[in-house]
Amino acid sequence: MKLSYILHGLINFTIPLLLAPMIHRCSNAAAAADDPTDGFTEIPLNQSNLVLQKPYDVPLHQRYSFVGGVHRMWVYADDKPHHPTSPTQPRTEIRITGLDYSSGVWQFEGHGFVPNGTSGATVAQIHGGSHDATTLILRVYAPGEMRFYSYPRIADGLYDRWFRLNIIHDVDGGKVTVFLDGEQKFQFHDQGPGDLYFKCGVYAAHANISYYMESRWRDIKIYRKL
Ligand SMILES: *[C@@H]1O[C@H](CO)[C@@H](O)[C@H](O)[C@H]1NC(C)=O
Ligand SMILES: *[C@@H]1O[C@H](CO)[C@@H](O)[C@H](O)[C@H]1NC(C)=O
Ligand SMILES: *[C@@H]1O[C@H](CO)[C@@H](O)[C@H](O)[C@H]1NC(C)=O
Repeated sequence: MKLSYILHGLINFTIPLLLAPMIHRCSNAAAAADDPTDGFTEIPLNQSNLVLQKPYDVPLHQRYSFVGGVHRMWVYADDKPHHPTSPTQPRTEIRITGLDYSSGVWQFEGHGFVPNGTSGATVAQIHGGSHDATTLILRVYAPGEMRFYSYPRIADGLYDRWFRLNIIHDVDGGKVTVFLDGEQKFQFHDQGPGDLYFKCGVYAAHANISYYMESRWRDIKIYRKL
C-alpha cells in the first residue's frame, strides 16, 4: 500500500506541464475504449442481498428510504451503533449479503450521491481482510472530497451530483482499483484474503464528522470475473 501512495505522489508532482495535455488525451482515449465492467459477469441481486444496518434503537424508516429506485441512508453523529454491544461508530449501511468472497476478482458498482455538508462519512467499503477489519474505506469529507480512509484524497467535487463508483477487488492478485465516472482514480495493495464483502451508505469516522451524514445509492450491482 505504501508503494502505491508513493507512486501516486510522484506522478502528481513530477509530470511536467508540457506532458500533461498528452497524458490527458491518452487517458481520455482509454476511458472511451474501456469500461471497468468489461470482461466481468453481473451477478443478479435481489432485495435479500441488500441487508440494512442502522442504529439499533430506531426504526429503519427513520434512517432509510427507498423511493424511485434510490436507497437513501442517513445517520447522526450521536446515533447509537448498529448493535447494543458494538463499540463502533454510527452507521446506516447496505451490507451486500450472500456474496461474501475470499478469492477471485469481484466488482462493486453503484451510482452515489452525497449532499453538501456530509463530512467524515464512509460511503463505500470492502469489509474484511486478513490483516485488518476493512480492506477499503472511501470517505467523503467537506468540501466534497473522496478520501482513502483519512488520507490521501482521491477525488473532489462530489457534493450534490450523481457519480458512478466502480471498485474492482482482484483478491488473487492482491489489488484493489477504484474508478469514478469510469476513470481510474486509485489503486493499492489489499489486506490479504478474508471474509470479504461490499457495503455502501454512511458510516461515521472517529473525527471531523458532520452532525448529519447522508448518501444515496441506485443501480447497485455486483460483478465477478468467471
Ligand atoms: C434472491 O437471491 C438469492 C441468492 O442470491 C436466492 O437464494 C433467492 O432465492 C432469491 N430470491 C428471490 C425472491 O428471487
Ligand atoms: C455547500 O454549501 C456551502 C454553505 O452553504 C456553500 O458555501 C458551498 O458553495 C456549497 N458547495 C457546493 C458544491 O454547492
Ligand atoms: C481532522 O481535521 C484536522 C484539520 O483539518 C486535521 O488536522 C486532523 O488530522 C483531522 N483528524 C482526522 C482524524 O482526520
